[in-house]
Amino acid sequence: MLEPEQIVRLEAGAVVLLDQRRLPEAVEEMRCTDATAVAEAIRSMVVRGAPAIGVTAAYAIALAAERGDDLDDADAVLRASRPTAVNLAWALDEMRSDPSPEHARRIHMDEVERCRRMAQHTADLLDSGTRVLTHCNAGGLATGGYGSAVGALLAAFERGVLAHVWVDETRPLLQGARLTAWELEAASIPHAVIADSAAASLMAAGKVDCVITGADRIAANGDAANKIGTYSLAVLARHHDLPLYVVAPSTTVDLDTPDGPAIPIEHRDPAEVTARFPALNPAFDVTPAELIAAIVTERGVHRAPYAESLATAEVA
Ligand code: MRU
Repeated sequence: MLEPEQIVRLEAGAVVLLDQRRLPEAVEEMRCTDATAVAEAIRSMVVRGAPAIGVTAAYAIALAAERGDDLDDADAVLRASRPTAVNLAWALDEMRSDPSPEHARRIHMDEVERCRRMAQHTADLLDSGTRVLTHCNAGGLATGGYGSAVGALLAAFERGVLAHVWVDETRPLLQGARLTAWELEAASIPHAVIADSAAASLMAAGKVDCVITGADRIAANGDAANKIGTYSLAVLARHHDLPLYVVAPSTTVDLDTPDGPAIPIEHRDPAEVTARFPALNPAFDVTPAELIAAIVTERGVHRAPYAESLATAEVA
């Protein structure tokens, strides 16, 4: 498993990022020497995943402070880099009171610790021999260490209850086929990459026991935005009477956003889908709360009605 510092760290004069666009073929780092460069790295998905971009933005503010740059300008350019994951705005808000490297590092380590706690809560939900289907990458790469949904898979595997993971390749940028599969391979967890469109027939064949994903923003009513295709899986899971668990830190819960329709959905370059024909490229979709069996945060297992359970500090 990668150490948090291998995914993102602050060095003298630079935020250093593992370039996730090149994985798994090449393990290369990118040095960003100011907040504008970090914002571009977030936008172009050198680093991606909701908690990881929040952590990266925190380090970028610390870098800007050390350079003597205007912190409002740094905040603005970072905040505009990707709109859906609320962790980005959360981390920037946190850094306003204390833009020090120590504070950014604490935000980073706290996110990793939240992952470890929510992973244990999620593993509690799984029976022996569970076969999980997951989408996109919600691993250590996406959180700055350990992972949310993939962290839960690690914890379940360590307990001996996880039998197999079906990994959606996750069109169009293949975070599943490139990143989740790479992380599961490193952990020796049995897995197979599938085309996104294979999920329905696997469920119909009785080869899936539950779906576990991360989230980029969870609204106050429990509607959850995640990588495009998650909503399709939720509909399929309901049809096949399988639970869908959303695993995300409390920093992904946005009580100021009332419901899914209020979540801003990023639209990316259509060329990521096809450069040959006209294309549409929404990067996220919203899974309605009624299709989510549980939302697991470091606080515990939140069940419907989510408007109440998400607003509660600790749940059973
Ligand atoms: O576009 P991405 O790769 O940043 O999208 C990432 C996801 O959708 C993840 O599932 C989500 O951020 C949770 S990461 C712990």
